Amino acid sequence: MNQQSAVVNEAEIRERLDAVGQGHLLRFAAELSGDSRAALVERVGALDIERLPRLIEAYVRNKPSFAPPTDLAPAPYLALDPATPGHSWDLDAARSAGEALLSAGKVAAFTVAGGQGTRLGFDGPKGMHRAGAVTGKPLFACLADWIIAAQDRFDGVIPWCVMTSPINHDQTVAFFEEQRYFGLDPDDVLLFPQGVMPTMDKDTGAVLLASKEAPAVNPDGHGGSLRALWTSGAIENLQRRGVEHISFVQVDNPLARMIDPVFIGLHAAHPDSSGEMSSKMLEKTEPSEKVGLFCEIGGRVSMVEYSDLPEELQAQREGDRLLFNAGNPALHMIGVDFIAKLNQSDEGFALPYHRAEKKTPYIDLESGELIEPSETNSVKLETFVFDALALCERSLILETDRIDEFAPIKNASGSDSLESCARIQTERAARWLEAAGVVVPRTESGDADCTLEISPIAAMTAEEFGELALPDRIDAGASVVFETP
Ligand code: UD1
Repeated sequence: MNQQSAVVNEAEIRERLDAVGQGHLLRFAAELSGDSRAALVERVGALDIERLPRLIEAYVRNKPSFAPPTDLAPAPYLALDPATPGHSWDLDAARSAGEALLSAGKVAAFTVAGGQGTRLGFDGPKGMHRAGAVTGKPLFACLADWIIAAQDRFDGVIPWCVMTSPINHDQTVAFFEEQRYFGLDPDDVLLFPQGVMPTMDKDTGAVLLASKEAPAVNPDGHGGSLRALWTSGAIENLQRRGVEHISFVQVDNPLARMIDPVFIGLHAAHPDSSGEMSSKMLEKTEPSEKVGLFCEIGGRVSMVEYSDLPEELQAQREGDRLLFNAGNPALHMIGVDFIAKLNQSDEGFALPYHRAEKKTPYIDLESGELIEPSETNSVKLETFVFDALALCERSLILETDRIDEFAPIKNASGSDSLESCARIQTERAARWLEAAGVVVPRTESGDADCTLEISPIAAMTAEEFGELALPDRIDAGASVVFETP
């Protein structure tokens, strides 16, 4: 841009900002050098300026609250045991349908990895955090192993889409390069950043300045993936390859079966599914567990966050189970056509925003100093991918087993930590070993007295594992990894 058009551009943006009461974003423009000033104008110009007043009215002046509708009901799901009386489903048919899609190259994997390891006390993209119970492999490598294993089994290419955020994109790409794409063909790995939302002062709605050169922004939530898959060109790439369905997992869960032929087959071919978006659920057994819950509202599957469901409903029981027992492990299948349809619709598509109050460092407008607030000072807005469930015609839910595929790493210690994840990896492996007749040492309380890790490259299921050449027993205190078939 030449200097004159830069000036015109700044004047135009200043006018638009003034019109919505956000003129302070250019407060320090005159202090900046040419390039920095142009960068500020570009960053501010990239915000959806005219939409700010509506967002402030809806989410800063008001705090939307969820009132459970009168027709709120637990969502129906297919039980883990396909022979459950009254709810049986055809396991073999589902597996064959899924395997056929995999062999034909019609399935891609998708990992949302926009989050940082902040809650873990880890300074970097969460996917770089160690995860393998024995090997210490990073989360990205654990997930890549599922793709390597499935490509090998089903002889079809499985492209891997990885959504980063503008904060960690470059570091993530550098890590994939350094790790040689974990053994995958770089042409089949599509890395792209998600979008951002402006971070606003929680009392006034003024967009904060992160520095004199940049407004404060935050990643737009994993719901942003449905738009970023489209705007990045990933959907077009997948359509060119003939991919019809995407397997969605969060980067924090190394046990997530990134490729599960049975779930893929149910999503694509079961009459309860429109092939738009399907989910796995795991049984919530304690009312206090902090997982989202699959519900039905107006005959459609919807997710209700645990904090939104009144305590008496969370604790209500039906027999020995919680009435609202379908917890969200964040495992979905999503149709490529569904994502394309959402993005191409004339009316556009909008997922609801969820607001969170956070501490955000900001530039003081009087002194120009960077302030580190000690209390929450800002509102961040995010969208959640599971809110797209309510846009589906028919959405299927399949029960999964906690030990088999849910061991997220979210916290530095306690529940959902590296330590609990390693324990679950060990327990899953112990069960698979015992099912194959191997003696596993256990403590008096029943915990496996060893550390175990099974890579999906060795076995994707307990049945496959049982066919490997295995030892007769595992020694107490041993660390054992099964990495090859
Ligand atoms: C999430 C679910 C919860 C579920 C739990 C299971 C939400 C709001 N809640 O909780 O219902 O029971 O997982 O583990 O999602 N991410 C991005 N970009 C973003 C924000 C997040 O890529 O802008 C990714 C993160 O990298 C992470 C995942 O989304 O992989 C989950 O985000 P997080 O904020 O950790 O959700 P949870 O609170 O763990």
